[in-house]
Amino acid sequence: MNPTYDWLSPEQARLSAALKAVARNPRLKEEILKTPALYRLLRLAASRFVAGEDRDAAMSAGRRLLEQGYRISLEYIGENTVSTNQCRQAADEFSSLIEMVPVPCRISLDLSHIGLAVSPALAHEQLGRLASEAARTGKKIFVSMEESAKTDEILTVYKEAAACHRNLGITLQAQLHRTEQDLAELLAVDGEIRIVKGAYEEPAQLVLPRSIALNERYVRLVERAVAAGKHVSAATHDSQLVEQLRKQFGSTIEYELLYGIRGDLGAELLAQGLPVRIYLTYGSEWYLYLCHRLAEYPPNVYEALSVMLEELAQPSGLRYG
Ligand code: FDA
Repeated sequence: MNPTYDWLSPEQARLSAALKAVARNPRLKEEILKTPALYRLLRLAASRFVAGEDRDAAMSAGRRLLEQGYRISLEYIGENTVSTNQCRQAADEFSSLIEMVPVPCRISLDLSHIGLAVSPALAHEQLGRLASEAARTGKKIFVSMEESAKTDEILTVYKEAAACHRNLGITLQAQLHRTEQDLAELLAVDGEIRIVKGAYEEPAQLVLPRSIALNERYVRLVERAVAAGKHVSAATHDSQLVEQLRKQFGSTIEYELLYGIRGDLGAELLAQGLPVRIYLTYGSEWYLYLCHRLAEYPPNVYEALSVMLEELAQPSGLRYG
């Protein structure tokens, strides 16, 4: 049984595990993406979660959200980039994004997209460069949290950068047992905090599964960060958890949701006058992101299938050969 998702039915847990295994298989990804019809169908399914393949598409989705009163985070998707050149290209894209976005926007990134998979030194150099560029125009950079095998390195690079730059933030995963201690250490460091439950499948001994105990820990983490005067983003789509946070913290914290997920919840919070941020992603590396979103909530597979089958059923739909 997948330890992180034991709140799912056995069938859903099986589907979730299979999707994660598919996501981790680079050869399969390559085969799928080089089959034009399959590529197009999957890209259609991904379009619910991903604003588009380029900056312009992301910005036009972003502008619509800003007009409605949301704040936004933007991420050029990618992770585990192993070539120094590609890491530099990714950082260049973030750099252009920083130039382009209006001030209330936040840029989010995975350190393994801009250098950590090559060396912590490269990640440090690139994060420092992007933080300086963002600071010149009053913008913020938020570091995402990846698998637990990388947590130490991510925190080290982040803390070093946060010692020199005041426009940074870090994401912490409530599911990891170590996070309470990590937060205690981060309270002494400049920077904002985003709390998430955690998207990665981890060894059972390292995590709490989705449960009431996890939600209690989540609230405790927010409480400690708020008490220490931190700006906190509570990033979750869990209605019960959001309700608890709303009652306890109201507008002293920000509520953050992924683009395409629980839009009803975001609209409800916004209508209550609460600060709501939508996390928008773009880029050609949407495949892994799609797998994550389907795996963490397997009922999404039905919608993805419907979108693909509807396309196939169109008289002008996909043409083969
Ligand atoms: P949970 O998984 O318990 O789901 C609660 C309910 O939310 C579900 O019953 C369903 O109604 C709804 N829901 C959840 N996921 C859904 C989906 N994909 N589609 C439709 N409905 C869904 N993780 C990480 O490890 N590192 C990171 O840096 C980040 N960054 C990040 C930023 C932001 C802004 C968000 C919102 C999330 C992340 N995450 C993340 C992902 C996070 O760890 C987690 O996997 C997802 O948010 C799903 O967990 P929930 O807290 O939503 O609750």
